[in-house]
Amino acid sequence: MSIVDDLQQLRADAATAIAGAEDLAQLDVVRVAYLGKKGSLTSVLRGLGALSAEERPAVGKVSNEVRQALEAAIDLRRADLSSAALDARVLAEAVDVTLPGRRRAPGTSHLITRTVDEIVEIFTGLGYKVAEGPDVELDYYNFTALNTPADHPARTPSDTFYVRDLTGEATAVAGESDVLLRTQTSPVQVRTMESTKPPIYILSPGKVYRRDIADPSHLPQFTQIEGLVIDEGITFGDLKGTLEHVCREIFGPERKVRLRPHFFPFTEPSAEVDVSCGMCGGGGCRMCKGSGWLEILGCGMVDPNVFGYVGIDPERYSGFAFGMGAERIAALKYDIPDLRHFIESDMRFLRQF
Ligand code: DAH
Repeated sequence: MSIVDDLQQLRADAATAIAGAEDLAQLDVVRVAYLGKKGSLTSVLRGLGALSAEERPAVGKVSNEVRQALEAAIDLRRADLSSAALDARVLAEAVDVTLPGRRRAPGTSHLITRTVDEIVEIFTGLGYKVAEGPDVELDYYNFTALNTPADHPARTPSDTFYVRDLTGEATAVAGESDVLLRTQTSPVQVRTMESTKPPIYILSPGKVYRRDIADPSHLPQFTQIEGLVIDEGITFGDLKGTLEHVCREIFGPERKVRLRPHFFPFTEPSAEVDVSCGMCGGGGCRMCKGSGWLEILGCGMVDPNVFGYVGIDPERYSGFAFGMGAERIAALKYDIPDLRHFIESDMRFLRQF
């Protein structure tokens, strides 16, 4: 076979290979195989040296034609493949603007958080400041300075979680400790009176802990909101007026409020506050167990014995205090029959609020 035949054969083979390249990468492999430095055309041309001077121009001409033809064919195929690649990409990245959007749930505050925030806002509107205290508390602040007798049942380990020092270095007798999880937010009253001179107008929301089994109306951990006012000339009338205002802000202006005598070690006199039942409007129903009233908080005038612990002069100052359960208030406001819903993280419940 002559070298010209070789060139024509090579041209035909290359044309087939170019046409068969399915993408730009394959095409480049073909280009290198035929036209590259070590490519087939190049090696054919190396044979030109062996030709006579007469033969060389004709063969040179054919080889140039073959090179140009192949380069042109490669360019053409490249253009086709690039536009096909572009089409494929456009198709793959196409956005169907008619598809419905994907919804992202942004998340909301828990109902208890919102209830606390709402109540805090009512009180800050009246000029109260927010005060905080530790969840892990000393027996002194949780009980003693709140005028709670040593033999009060709330102090027993069956009611209160005591924190034991497992190193055994604690001051306490075996199994006993003066460190506990606070059972009420009332210790913040003592801490505030210890550190702040009257007048005092504070609100203290926070978690409290009790050895209770969770049931529809009890949780072993729940949220209380404590209030304390100490000033000159504070009377029971101030307490009543404040709580009536707050209850109507929380539950709505149509609700009635009543105070019933009660007992707390740290207030004298003490009372419990009821609001008229929102389900039956006061006529009596299952929600209010037929009474027409729902108990929402405890309150009273600060006992002079408590003033004794914190060094406030009871001749000059008087004050009132109150404590309410946020879960209970939310349950009454939103007709939630079981407090356990608040801690179970069931989205079907949480999404309703
Ligand atoms: N600490 C009381 C409780 O957990 C609630 C309470 C009652 C708080 C009367 C007060 C108060 O500040 O004056 O049951």
